[in-house]
Amino acid sequence: MRIFIDTASIDEIKEAHALGILDGVTTNPSLMAKEGITGKDNIIDHYKRICEIVDGDVSAEVISTDFEGMVREGEELAKIHDNIIVKVPMTVDGVKAIHHLYENDIPTNCTLVFSAAQAILAAKAGAYLVSPFIGRIDDTNWEGMDLIDQIAEVYAIQDFETEILAASIRSSKHIVQCAQAGADVVTCPLSTIKGLFKHPLTDIGLEKFLADYRKGNS
Ligand code: G3P
Repeated sequence: MRIFIDTASIDEIKEAHALGILDGVTTNPSLMAKEGITGKDNIIDHYKRICEIVDGDVSAEVISTDFEGMVREGEELAKIHDNIIVKVPMTVDGVKAIHHLYENDIPTNCTLVFSAAQAILAAKAGAYLVSPFIGRIDDTNWEGMDLIDQIAEVYAIQDFETEILAASIRSSKHIVQCAQAGADVVTCPLSTIKGLFKHPLTDIGLEKFLADYRKGNS
């Protein structure tokens, strides 16, 4: 399972990259706005900077909502770097755009997926990645992980090639459950990636090893 960071922050991407376990980056318009990245030229430059740091998939989301606009934007984004994956929302025009881009060898990430039905459409259209949002489903008192299980089962039975990118990840537990469910990728905030390292018994154990070393070497 690949681990992506879900941010547009260059500092966070550098920090995650330095950990040696980072496989890619996802962004969305909210994350770009959070970093104050506005205007087409600045957005393109920002994606170039991200691609220079991480040698892996970098999802760049279209902001058009009509088929022609999504295709035009997708083609422009794909020219930035070979690692750009065009992120397209799960709408009727989005699915049409995903299929058009697929036929033109431009890989896509179908985002804002909240049901297995939508995941089937994304796969049929030829999306390279499908992004079900676990945390946002949990927020509505449904079980986000059930969706990952269901999509993984359907994709395996149907032999769909689209990879499952579990998004809206909120905890280490989500990441482990995604690995168990067979998700191909998880995309997480830096704090959640760093949470994977933590266990109190590791800290206590290390403290004891070092205390014993000091006793023996004093
Ligand atoms: O990038 C899409 C997704 O990961 C967003 O997560 O935390 O805003 O629900 P969140």
